[in-house]
Amino acid sequence: MKNSIRNLVLASLVLSFSEFASAQTTVKLPAPDKSNKMTLMESLEKRHSERSFSDKQLTDVQLSSVLWAACGINRPESGMITAPSAMNRQDVKVYVCRKDGVWLYLPKENALKQITSQDVRKLIAGSQDFVNAAPVVLLLTSNLENKEIGSLDAGYVSQNICLACTALGLATVPRASMDKEALHKALNLAKDEALIVNNPVGFSK
Ligand SMILES: Cc1cc2nc3c(=O)[nH]c(=O)nc-3n(C[C@H](O)[C@H](O)[C@H](O)COP(=O)(O)O)c2cc1C
Repeated sequence: MKNSIRNLVLASLVLSFSEFASAQTTVKLPAPDKSNKMTLMESLEKRHSERSFSDKQLTDVQLSSVLWAACGINRPESGMITAPSAMNRQDVKVYVCRKDGVWLYLPKENALKQITSQDVRKLIAGSQDFVNAAPVVLLLTSNLENKEIGSLDAGYVSQNICLACTALGLATVPRASMDKEALHKALNLAKDEALIVNNPVGFSK
């Protein structure tokens, strides 16, 4: 009995280690497509929250385009980003949550770095099942040092995602609901990194 409990504990330790050990992969994204024709005013006119997603997957270019719009670098000479940021702290991180795990968006490299191979969409969905159907959920965190400012910064990034999705023919909804405690653990986040908002992204059903 004692041995089987010990084996169970060892097995779960190995499992969590392998989840984070596989987290070293970094993949380059294709360049974002900035050539869409919808104007900002049309995008504002059409933006709405969508809560029904088909199983159609995003292409890498679509994902790259939404991420660039979210908080990608728009002034390479200074490293400034598409979203305004208090004191230019650029403290908002965007995690791409998919079936194949969680990936951190690296704006400078235009790349994704794997954080875990765990599919955490269930932890984000809670009772809103439609979230599990979205091929991608963008999870936004910011630094807790100044929670109010951090939340504001994340709000700008989330709004960029909403408007970009509309312009690109994609569906999204900003959501504050999620199991923050479980996600904090699953992503192995630092104590001062707070989960603020998430945007499921995909195609309307
Ligand atoms: C900060 C914030 C948190 C939200 N959280 C949720 C949520 O947890 N679940 C959800 O279905 N919608 C959520 N929404 C979306 C709102 O319900 C939605 O924006 C509102 O009903 C207005 O609809 P519209 O976006 O189509 O204009 C949230 C919106 C904001 C701005």
